[in-house]
Amino acid sequence: MKKIVLAIFLLAIFGQAVEAQHQGKEVEAKIDSLLSLLTLEEKVAMCHAQSKFSSPGVPRLGIPEIWMSDGPHGVRAEINWDNWGYAGWTNDSITAFPALTCLAATFNPDLSHQYGVAVGEEARYRKKDILLGPGVNIYRTPLNGRNFEYMGEDPYLASVLVVPYIKGVQQNGVAACLKHYVLNNQERWRDHINVEVSDRALYEIYLPAFKAAVEEGGAWSVMGAYNQFRGQHCCHHELLLNQILKEDWGFDGVVVTDWGGAHDTREAALYGLDIEMGTGTDGLTTSTKNAYDNYYLARPFLELIKSGEIEEAVVDDKVRRILRLMLRTNMNPNRPMGRMNNEEHLQVARAIAGEGIVLLKNEGSFFPIDPGKKMTIAVIGENATRAMTAGGGSSELKPKDEVSPLRGLQERFKNANIIHSMGYASGPPQYGRVLPSGLDADSLRNAAVKAAAQADVVLFFGGLNKNHHQDCEGGDRLQFGLPFGQDELLDQLVRANKNIGVILISGNAVEMPWVSKVKGLMQAWYLGSEAGHALADVISGDVNPSGKLPFSFPVMLSDNAAHHFGELSYPGDSINQYYKEGILVGYRWHDSKGVKPLFAFGHGLSYTSFKLSGVKTDKKSYAAGETIIVSCTVTNTGSADGAEVVQVYIGKPGSKVERAVKELKGFQKVPIEKGGKALVEIPVEVDGLAFYDESTSGWSLEKGDYTIYLGTASDDITEKIAISVE
Ligand code: BGC
Repeated sequence: MKKIVLAIFLLAIFGQAVEAQHQGKEVEAKIDSLLSLLTLEEKVAMCHAQSKFSSPGVPRLGIPEIWMSDGPHGVRAEINWDNWGYAGWTNDSITAFPALTCLAATFNPDLSHQYGVAVGEEARYRKKDILLGPGVNIYRTPLNGRNFEYMGEDPYLASVLVVPYIKGVQQNGVAACLKHYVLNNQERWRDHINVEVSDRALYEIYLPAFKAAVEEGGAWSVMGAYNQFRGQHCCHHELLLNQILKEDWGFDGVVVTDWGGAHDTREAALYGLDIEMGTGTDGLTTSTKNAYDNYYLARPFLELIKSGEIEEAVVDDKVRRILRLMLRTNMNPNRPMGRMNNEEHLQVARAIAGEGIVLLKNEGSFFPIDPGKKMTIAVIGENATRAMTAGGGSSELKPKDEVSPLRGLQERFKNANIIHSMGYASGPPQYGRVLPSGLDADSLRNAAVKAAAQADVVLFFGGLNKNHHQDCEGGDRLQFGLPFGQDELLDQLVRANKNIGVILISGNAVEMPWVSKVKGLMQAWYLGSEAGHALADVISGDVNPSGKLPFSFPVMLSDNAAHHFGELSYPGDSINQYYKEGILVGYRWHDSKGVKPLFAFGHGLSYTSFKLSGVKTDKKSYAAGETIIVSCTVTNTGSADGAEVVQVYIGKPGSKVERAVKELKGFQKVPIEKGGKALVEIPVEVDGLAFYDESTSGWSLEKGDYTIYLGTASDDITEKIAISVE
């Protein structure tokens, strides 16, 4: 019987494969026939923008335009045809989803899929063919202004989470555009800085999430990064695009420039770029009048083909890719219609926000705060009321509604007397500029201290915001500490009232000189439309926190690997920059150098407690190609239902090359009722233990002993197990 079932199963799989191959052939034949109908001029036109966010079709053949939109946390409001102003539509308000750092903190691939489906549906409804996201640049420094748009410091975590997001978006017939490929790990000098990094760090740290997104997620488009790598711009890069992306990973989709990321016609033509967007004719994206015909992949490209300097096959390959993307999106008659601003999308946003909030510290069970109790709560801080979907650069959103933390608390804590005081002020959002607040800092602070002194509980909502030099595109943060006088304010608040909890809203780690003086601390990211509801869910205990940090919080900036090596490492000398820490990014650095972080990668508390027991592997010795099954029993030993993230790290003692002490290789989030237990089995591919061997330019799996570390944070390991690879 078993054999028959297996045979039917194999036949079905085989049948599907044959069907897919057949469909693939049909699509390619369609592309060939379309291509043969196009004039050279029409083909060249398809390779560059016609407006800020579209590229032209071929009306006489019914080939549509391609419409793109940012990305990645929701669909951006409509931008004017030929300048960066908003078009002022009244039907483009959307659902704002939590920032990708929050998604990463959920450690929950199912939620990533729900995120992708929901944001893809909204993109489809808004008639977008390409959604410009997700971003998977690795978190290298806490000063990077765009870390909030990415998935943290670990390549494995980012890989596992990016794949379902992409699949979810694309099942709507909308292409995800994976960005920014690659090494765009800071905003300072992003348009030209040349990154020098070892092959090992490139392959082991910076590329894996992109690779997974392409090979496993099947991303239909990729956006090149602004910066250079080894002297060549990433938007037309022989090694990165032609060799690694298209040849090695078999990417059959479209490479789009970042806006204004093309710099040369020959390179753009020959080194892997397919669609050029955003080039200004008087410099990078700054022109007010765009002459699209002057783009590198426009008239100059046409002329080089006509003169025979560039073969027509070059443009054919680009158009083939563009048509393939169209047949998957706007020329696919079967794509769904999408929907927007519906209750389900809000629920997805709220669930991700609730699962992504990380409880960092909880002295004396400060959280949760009982919503049934009569008490006075002082809600202090600008971030309690500030709209966090505004600002930040291209990821800025225009949500239909954004529930502020204050509103969320007011709705949930009906028995409490909530007093609000702003405490500090940052100034209005303004892209590329800092506009200081006109409010008087002393009076704001005094009022807040007075409010704190009267309250039973103080909740301080601070952190960063999406202003220039905070968490915002186009500029890095200028300091590791909190801005706008928040440290001084906190100093006074903790003296006025010891019963204080801090909720940090940011996409980056910050310095916390006050951390030992506050009782509770939560990392709450940028949470989107449902921010206030999700925060009230967690603060009240309706939702038990289960988020884990997707990056390390160093005590001070020099404890971060990139900063440890000084200016040439970050931010560089304005021309070059050297990633001197190599593979030792984030917790890999903290572990290997014994530099204790303030809060470690993978850390996150719960309102209940968990015990891990019976940790074991299925075998002691493994061969290449096999799977290690690491298992344990997790018991919820506390008094609330909750979820724990079991994390498997693996290290190679006595390796012949430098290695991190341990690296994340598997994890699983398990919901467990109070008093309940669950058996967790985490598979780890033995081949995933290989290192990138620079001497052979390939992956190498070392034989010998390995150590498995199983725990609930990178600094909270329950048990180590020795195994060997033969
Ligand atoms: C950003 C991209 C964005 C594009 C279009 C660029 O400045 O780097 O992430 O998708 O603009 O807005």
